[in-house]
Amino acid sequence: TQPLRLGIAGLGTVGIGVVKIVKQQAELLSARTGRKIEISAVSARTRDKDRGVSLSGFAWEDDPVALATRDDVDVFVELMGGSDGPAKAATEAALKAGKHVVTANKAMLAVHGQALAEEAEGAGVNLRFEAAVAGGIPVIKTLTESLAGNQITRVMGVMNGTCNYILTRMESAGLTYETVFDEANALGYLEADPTLDVGGIDAGHKLAILASIAFGTQVDFNGIEIEGIERISISDIRHARDMGYRIKLLGVAQMSGRGLESRMSPCLVPANSPLGALEGPTNMCILEGDSVGQIVLRGAGAGEGPTASAVMGDICDIARGLKIATFGVPADQLVQAESARSAVP
Ligand code: NAP
Ligand code: HSE
Repeated sequence: TQPLRLGIAGLGTVGIGVVKIVKQQAELLSARTGRKIEISAVSARTRDKDRGVSLSGFAWEDDPVALATRDDVDVFVELMGGSDGPAKAATEAALKAGKHVVTANKAMLAVHGQALAEEAEGAGVNLRFEAAVAGGIPVIKTLTESLAGNQITRVMGVMNGTCNYILTRMESAGLTYETVFDEANALGYLEADPTLDVGGIDAGHKLAILASIAFGTQVDFNGIEIEGIERISISDIRHARDMGYRIKLLGVAQMSGRGLESRMSPCLVPANSPLGALEGPTNMCILEGDSVGQIVLRGAGAGEGPTASAVMGDICDIARGLKIATFGVPADQLVQAESARSAVP
């Protein structure tokens, strides 16, 4: 069997995590998928940067589009970020050239997911994005595969590690927002534009993707009511604690007779509940289906290892020849949802 050859664009927190796993777990990956997984070429903005891992043996491309369309690339791994610009251009080029795409880019999928999914399915290739929602938690796979026999009634959870880290660390260490924000940055949790995190937009992107898969609807980021954590003060956190609650940036999406109700906003949750007990950059996804009941998935939502783990899972699925509709059902069958505002309890 021919090796599966990767072209990786973006060598930051997640990209370097993927390079390390491919190098360090070569035998395990090959045993589990029946194929060798190799890196053919890489790309980033700056070539001469010490990234803590050797890139020798990989071709270098300055232009991500050139990388995505190379003859020696079977899977284009997009880990640059940004809803448009080079990430979108290279992803489109890869799909047009008949390459599979694996990405962690929720911003791109929340805005262009529908068009990219149609492109991928038309070309007969995979567009996979497990890492885009809740980092290391396999929530996309759980919805599209394990819960395929269910009518999903509700999806909710904490989906931004940075916000959960900031809120819980402010409370436990009594530190200011600014100090904790700097810590989160040093730990690699933040988006290149951190207002996406603290403004609730990143979590809103993730909720839009989950809702599409859960309810078979077109990805509708604009239909989500969003409020971030920027206005939460240490005294809000302390008052909530004194009453037995904690403040979480909580996303909820559910289908009602009025349409798709979805909201991402700071909420009070009981301190002794599973959501209330979430510490640090941890995420929790709560899925409810008519047959299965409620499922709770909990794990690291950000950072090098957990996010690279999810990217590798997608790459391994492609190596095994698995093919799944991008959002669970073929993109041209996704229906447009009526969005019902301000109705989520
Ligand atoms: P990052 O650390 O900022 O790395 C971004 C990488 O992309 C850098 O290597 C950068 O090059 C490269 N890049 C940026 N613009 C480029 C361009 N125009 N052409 C070529 N390369 C370019 O970002 P990250 O945290 O790894 O995130 C990558 C993606 O994963 C994003 O979509 C993010 O939302 C998503 N994600 C991240 C996490 C996380 O915990 N960090 C979790 C889930 C999903 P230089 O290094 O040369 O500057
Ligand atoms: N900035 C994001 C977070 C990265 O903090 O959750 C993971 O998507």
